[in-house]
Amino acid sequence: MIVNAGKYQVNITEKIFVPLEREIKKAKCSSIHIICDENTLQHCVPFLVSNCPSLKLAEIIEIESGESSKCIEVATGIWDTLLANGAARDALIINAGGGVVTDLGGFCASVYKRGISFINVPTSLLAMADAAVGSKTAIDHQSVKNVIGTFAEPRAVFANPDFLPTLPERHIKNGFAEILKMALIADKHLWEEVKNGKLKNGHIQKAVSLKVAIVSQDKYDKGKRKALNYGHTAGHALEALGGGQLLHGEAVVAGMIIENYIASDLKILKPETASLINNVLRNLYPDELPQFNATDAVKFLQNDKKIHSGKYNFSLLNGIGKCRTDVRVTEKQFMKACEKYHSLL
Ligand SMILES: NC(=O)c1ccc[n+]([C@@H]2O[C@H](COP(=O)([O-])OP(=O)(O)OC[C@H]3O[C@@H](n4cnc5c(N)ncnc54)[C@H](O)[C@@H]3O)[C@@H](O)[C@H]2O)c1
Repeated sequence: MIVNAGKYQVNITEKIFVPLEREIKKAKCSSIHIICDENTLQHCVPFLVSNCPSLKLAEIIEIESGESSKCIEVATGIWDTLLANGAARDALIINAGGGVVTDLGGFCASVYKRGISFINVPTSLLAMADAAVGSKTAIDHQSVKNVIGTFAEPRAVFANPDFLPTLPERHIKNGFAEILKMALIADKHLWEEVKNGKLKNGHIQKAVSLKVAIVSQDKYDKGKRKALNYGHTAGHALEALGGGQLLHGEAVVAGMIIENYIASDLKILKPETASLINNVLRNLYPDELPQFNATDAVKFLQNDKKIHSGKYNFSLLNGIGKCRTDVRVTEKQFMKACEKYHSLL
């Protein structure tokens, strides 16, 4: 299945190799560089290279897996390698990995020699359903998530669900969190389908189509796109607070629960709807949701880019499948919601 994302296409199919090969040929690049981590190097890159003749001579740039690689030091290492290998303006980067590789690799490509082409080949569920699409690239800095980044479109995205069987179960659940989020902000029918926690054929496509539909109305995050931040304002604070222990999707689930309590407190979301959603999320993630100190979490909230004049800018549900953006929330309201979150655990 192909989702048109403006200038580029997202191909979601087990048969990515023929169109991927075609796209690489079309790029007419002078060199190809595959960015991956040790896990995708082991489980995904050989499959890719053996099925795409154009990749046989590609240079492999391996980074260490995990969020800690989304930093300026690792980015510098990638630029050093590109330079050392003579990567020119018409070089092509293939990001073969999860959201860390697509965010970092996309960022490196988007500023190297003022921007070279890249193709995303997401290999984790989270990257297939979310991170590889939508043109946001980023690295973290001083424990602040995604604080340095660019908007840069890939040449194309090729998501092959055949990569998923080697993905650890924890990371499947992690990626599923973003599908739950998409359903909650944009599609109540999808929510009915996914609230049992079972990933089915078609869920990745649905999540990608919903994201593309939102991004196409607001590429630069000035309006409608902010709905995608639901669960992420609180979630990013917890992810940073967790110092790498908590995965992105797990932090987002906790963030969604907290933010539903805020929405209910502000009378944006009916309390019974908030509690219905929160019970579903708590039951789907019984062992993943963290306990934390709310005062510490506020410190990381203060670092979040969505802050405005002393209040925090949240995107909150105003029903299942609906989201209101730019809701100003006080520290006190956030702390109160954290308390309710802890009583739910
Ligand atoms: N740009 C965006 O719009 C956007 C949206 C959502 C999330 N993100 C970012 O995505 C990142 C999280 O992505 P993630 O969860 O994919 O993390 P990740 O890239 O760390 O991948 C998760 C783990 O799975 C391994 N892995 C990936 N594919 C595999 C496979 N097929 N088989 C075996 N192991 C495999 C990786 O090596 C890693 O250990 C975060 O940094 C988050 O901020 C970005």
